[in-house]
Amino acid sequence: MNILGISAYYHDSSACLFQDGKLVFACEEEKFTGVKHDSRFPVNTIEYIKQHYTDKFDLICYYEKPSLKLLRAFKHNWKSIPRILYTNIKLWFELKKISKNIFYSTHHDSHLMYSYYSSPYNDATLVSIDGVGEEETLKVVEAKNGKFTTKTTITYPHSLGLLYSAITAYLGFKPNEGEYKVMGLASYGDPSEYKGKFRKLLCYRKGLQVNMKYFTWDESNKVMFNHKLIKLLGDNRLPNEPITQRHKDIAASLQWIYEKALFHFLNEHPGENLCLSGGCAYNGTANGKIKENTSYKNIWIPTSPSDAGSCIGACLNYLKVRIPDNPFLGPEYDLEFCNSKPLDINTVAKELNKGKVVGWYEGKIEFGARALGHRSILANPTLPGMQDRINALIKKREMFRPFAPMVLKSAQNVYFESNDYVPYMNQVVKVKEEYRSQLPAVTHVDGTARIQTVHDKKSKIFKLLKSFETQSKFPILLNTSFNIKDKTMVLTPEDAFKTFTETDMDILVINNKMYYKNDKID
Ligand SMILES: [Fe+2]
Repeated sequence: MNILGISAYYHDSSACLFQDGKLVFACEEEKFTGVKHDSRFPVNTIEYIKQHYTDKFDLICYYEKPSLKLLRAFKHNWKSIPRILYTNIKLWFELKKISKNIFYSTHHDSHLMYSYYSSPYNDATLVSIDGVGEEETLKVVEAKNGKFTTKTTITYPHSLGLLYSAITAYLGFKPNEGEYKVMGLASYGDPSEYKGKFRKLLCYRKGLQVNMKYFTWDESNKVMFNHKLIKLLGDNRLPNEPITQRHKDIAASLQWIYEKALFHFLNEHPGENLCLSGGCAYNGTANGKIKENTSYKNIWIPTSPSDAGSCIGACLNYLKVRIPDNPFLGPEYDLEFCNSKPLDINTVAKELNKGKVVGWYEGKIEFGARALGHRSILANPTLPGMQDRINALIKKREMFRPFAPMVLKSAQNVYFESNDYVPYMNQVVKVKEEYRSQLPAVTHVDGTARIQTVHDKKSKIFKLLKSFETQSKFPILLNTSFNIKDKTMVLTPEDAFKTFTETDMDILVINNKMYYKNDKID
């Protein structure tokens, strides 16, 4: 049986394929189109599935219920009715062209089922937090003895995700995209001055209420906050204006209030195993503090907890089967350039140790926002200045954004104050005091790092980390996604080669071949 999962028309469209109950493929549309957070119907992803797997689909699982979204518009925002109605009609025709059988999951159940069925737990608390689904913005479900019981729901317009996005917009960044930047900026700020003001934005009556006196997302499709917020916090920052200490303090206050709310809900529903999902589950800083602020001992966050992952979640809500822990689900390509050399992992490790920067391209592309060793830029984390070099000459992005380390799981607690299983880079943890100055390129200003633990002994990246350890004593590499600022991760070897030539990388590895910058490549 072929089941096509689809998520579309909000942000991060995606599609996946289950064949006879097994997940065989998943990819976001943006990886094909190059348009970041592409929300269009995932025609290119579906075309890839048709060409490489099957063009006959017994069922489509769609990630949410379009009719309930329309109902929300009737209740809260009349202005958005024509847009939602038009999208729903277009969607219906697009789905019917592919298959006459359609299962519509609900938005938050798609999030929750993806995190649960990809987790190692039978009993767990499932928590989903995002901007908004159909009407829900937060949902807590208890999974016990094979049964799911809803414990809490928060509904629109009250939304932690939209609050985070609105302050992201206030700080001059793009909502649904700039939240990472605000999270990075928060580490440079002090929340104490704005805490009192932020307390006015949120209260816990009826679960959670955002003070809508300051916000407009329920009445406008373009602006998320109003002049009352400006009166409360001061002038908002425009995108090209310099970032001041005040902006950093406001970012820190936002992060503080988000964490407080997250721990509030988790402490209302104490437990041992937590499956976290929804766009807010990308907030690694908050995730890294869950254990010390709640009863939870084990945390699972899937590789793509936001709406992109919900194409898988919709299928899992229908199938109710477990899926393996594997993020490498997208397309794979190979291409032989002339003048290549066979890949020698020890040589790459030696060059990394000398300070060379490596573009590392391997097999199937990662599903989710993070590069996990198949489309990565790698560098030596022990070298001072490496962060600035990569930021300025390769990634061409804001200097305040930190880079993340990948570390062998066996050595994780030697260098970091964490022993968790974190294969998908979704927790920010403390770097041990004594190693902070030795790992300058991956230690953030507040002494933390967003780690990725590497487990698979057969993988090339594991072997590279091992080899780098013999060179440098550190089984740790700086890992950032293989792309430049505002571009999507490279998909094909041609994309990788183009980015390699346009930036200040030294070595390019494509599957089993390697190239030096000065090699003549045809
Ligand atoms: Fe969502």
